[in-house]
Amino acid sequence: MTASLAHLSDPHITTGPLAGAPAEGLYRALGRLLTLDRRPDCVVITGDLVDRGARDEYRALREVIERFPLPLHLVAGNHDDREELLAEFAGTGFLGEGDRTHYVVDHPSFAVVVLDSTVPGSPGGRLGPEQLEWLDEALTRRPHTPVFVCLHHPPIAIGVPFLDGMCLDDGEDLAAVLTRHTDVVRVLAGHVHRPVTAGFAGTVLATASSTHLQSGLALQGGVPHYLPEPASALLHLLSGQVWVTHTVPVSHAAATIGCF
Ligand SMILES: [Fe+2]
Repeated sequence: MTASLAHLSDPHITTGPLAGAPAEGLYRALGRLLTLDRRPDCVVITGDLVDRGARDEYRALREVIERFPLPLHLVAGNHDDREELLAEFAGTGFLGEGDRTHYVVDHPSFAVVVLDSTVPGSPGGRLGPEQLEWLDEALTRRPHTPVFVCLHHPPIAIGVPFLDGMCLDDGEDLAAVLTRHTDVVRVLAGHVHRPVTAGFAGTVLATASSTHLQSGLALQGGVPHYLPEPASALLHLLSGQVWVTHTVPVSHAAATIGCF
């Protein structure tokens, strides 16, 4: 059996005079995925879907993604507005056909569990006991199923002080839930606008770069700024019995970019 999930993050779609670059970045990343010689089963975008959480930005996002031919799952980030996101996408496949920003989608070879770590008015994140209990139940109902748990805020500090000041508050509580289950193959996050990998709660945490701008690697503190470093997608794929993660260059792709 073959299976794969493509992981993008932080497109920061906006409107007005600055709208072109982020929309082009997301469109190009999705187009690159279409030219892979085996298309992924689905795509997850781990938050900061838009820049200001405004309704017209979600309409612009819809214009970019609505003709994309593969299942595409949206995750809320701190730049998103939960109500506006739901107003545009509730009931569509982009939110698992449901009316919540935390949901599960079952694919033939794996399940995608999407969490909402946003805290209105804060750049940081928190899941809270109710959502963690819901996660525990969702995992319990899917024994022996590979699961991707997706959220915006990384649950650990990544060694960049500016970003570590706004990671997930209850990462240890998330770890406590995940360690009760053995089939979580990846925790997927965004927020840090850099590709980062770490062991976490008996599984592997992977953050994807932004499809727009990357954060500078400010290891000693200070503001990392946002730079046009190369953008990439992550492709998590089943190789034999093992899930492996490939980095797929997008902004510097030596490959055909598809249209849709
Ligand atoms: Fe972001």
